[in-house]
Amino acid sequence: MTIEIQPSINVKTAIESRRAARSFKPDPIPPAILAEILRLGVRSPSGYNLQPWRFIVLQDPASKQKLKACAFDQRQVVEAPTVLICCGDRRAAGPENTEAVIELGKTTGAMNDNLAGYMRQAIPQLFENRPCFDSLETWTNRHTMLAVAHLMIAAKSFGVDSCPMEGFVSAKVKEAFQIPEEVDVCCLLPLGYAAEPFKQYGGRFEVTQVYYSESYGQVLSVEI
Ligand SMILES: Cc1cc2nc3c(=O)[nH]c(=O)nc-3n(C[C@H](O)[C@H](O)[C@H](O)COP(=O)(O)O)c2cc1C
Repeated sequence: MTIEIQPSINVKTAIESRRAARSFKPDPIPPAILAEILRLGVRSPSGYNLQPWRFIVLQDPASKQKLKACAFDQRQVVEAPTVLICCGDRRAAGPENTEAVIELGKTTGAMNDNLAGYMRQAIPQLFENRPCFDSLETWTNRHTMLAVAHLMIAAKSFGVDSCPMEGFVSAKVKEAFQIPEEVDVCCLLPLGYAAEPFKQYGGRFEVTQVYYSESYGQVLSVEI
């Protein structure tokens, strides 16, 4: 019998109560909950469903200690029971990955010959002409960070805190964890249970400061 795990916190509350945790209790995340968070994280969308994100899951204290030395000694990296090194693999732009996505689509019934033919023609053009991004790293980063957002909200819905981190030296992380040259490290994501009260909430800009109407900078009227 499979028991489905349900989160205890709804999406709105998870979004509003998620904060960047700077300190973690040593308590491990129960394996079934961690597995569910990881599964939900990669339900994130991606262009042509190419899914370029890759994650190294650290739970061994020695690995986390190694990562701390690449992350300006930030303590959350060793305190959190689980830390993800969130990467984007530029090789996902290649034909092998397109074929893997086509095969995957066949298993769910979402793929047919027409769509497969279209993907085989359109995806190489996207990466050759690059109308939507300047570099492949922009492309890997765009997708991986969306998955990171999913991970953080999924985690919070199960009461698990997180801290997205760009404070690391990419070259050092790549060397220490045997990350191939074609793979970009997008962020680190400690996961666990916050040990200290969160920092005072820093606030967010007003909706009307960051959402515009019809053209950039034009005031949007919203009823909230
Ligand atoms: C991409 C990214 C990188 C960040 N890097 C770090 C970091 O290296 N160390 C850290 O303590 N917090 C880091 N943060 C957390 C931010 O400081 C925090 O999200 C922000 O101050 C807003 O606070 P809140 O998330 O608690 O609402 C990062 C957040 C993001 C989204």
